[in-house]
Amino acid sequence: AAEQLRFDGKVVIITGAGGGLGRAYALFYASRGAAVVVNDLGSPLAGGGQSHSAADQVVEEIRRNGGQAVANYDSVEKGDAIVQTALQHFGRLDVLVNNAGVLRDKSFSRMSDMDWDLVQLVHLKGSFKTTKAAWDVFRKQKYGRIIMTTSAAGLYGNFGQANYGSAKMAVVGFSNTLAKEGAKYNIHCNAVAPMAASRMTETAMPAEVIKVLDPKFVTPLVAYLTHESCPETGGVYEVGGGFAAKLRWERAEGHVFKADQSFTPAAVHAQWKAITDFAKPYYPQSIGEVDWLGLLDRAKQLPTNASSNDSLHFNDKV
Ligand code: NAI
Repeated sequence: AAEQLRFDGKVVIITGAGGGLGRAYALFYASRGAAVVVNDLGSPLAGGGQSHSAADQVVEEIRRNGGQAVANYDSVEKGDAIVQTALQHFGRLDVLVNNAGVLRDKSFSRMSDMDWDLVQLVHLKGSFKTTKAAWDVFRKQKYGRIIMTTSAAGLYGNFGQANYGSAKMAVVGFSNTLAKEGAKYNIHCNAVAPMAASRMTETAMPAEVIKVLDPKFVTPLVAYLTHESCPETGGVYEVGGGFAAKLRWERAEGHVFKADQSFTPAAVHAQWKAITDFAKPYYPQSIGEVDWLGLLDRAKQLPTNASSNDSLHFNDKV
């Protein structure tokens, strides 16, 4: 038989698991042996409101299939209560999938403080609160797997989604940092930008493509990234409709100017091709890699009163 990656004995929290992608994740993990906390406050797409039925239905479906699950109805803003549910019912926690989300699409000129704040609160603060509570557990047991949910709307920008796009890019920065801080505790954190037909996207998609964009065609990548056997951390992945691919930063070869008065806007213009030329690309993965630019050497060559090395602490001490 082909290898099957299983989650027996593992406890998994999925936030926003009452529908869409979260529901698909929850059903899958349960079918592979995990005990699942199905979190969902049952909110309308634009946020607010509350109903237990979304989470309850998913829990029922899992139990009907012989799996283990429990519902939690707290907002992700109360992440510690969600983690408590896992500990109380199943005694441990291994995987956290930050998936809950809301939308308040508006062109930027019409975007209110409320539209901005609510979206930041659920996606960014919610991921922070839930992950913070899980982090303590993961650190103590020296094991944890975390998923952040980003979006093409953040990675590339999308009309009408200034609030959502910024929150979604913020969780990428969050994920990158947790990957670094978690490394020595065997805590891995990756970000996925899913594409799936759900109530969040159905109005934006032609009917024919909705079939191939079933949320269950996102699940395998998320499951793999959170499996004990997966070494990956600090990655960003696009996944949907059976497609999966990793993304990374690419830096142009660039140009090193003299750190003196000759470094003018006109000099920038004159070197624009080199600054923006990706023919000899570099793929930086950590903040320490600015040393590659020879910054410290060049700082030493400056007149002593012109600059101090104090601003050049690139060590990644935690
Ligand atoms: P969905 O609207 O079907 O699911 C989101 C779930 O989160 C809902 O069940 C909702 O009740 C729940 N929720 C909302 N606020 C909550 C809160 N404060 N606490 C707990 N639960 C809350 O949407 P979908 O498509 O399944 O989205 C899941 C995630 O994937 C979201 O983070 C979304 O931004 C992201 N995403 C989805 C894409 C897609 O193509 N469907 C594209 C890019 C990102």
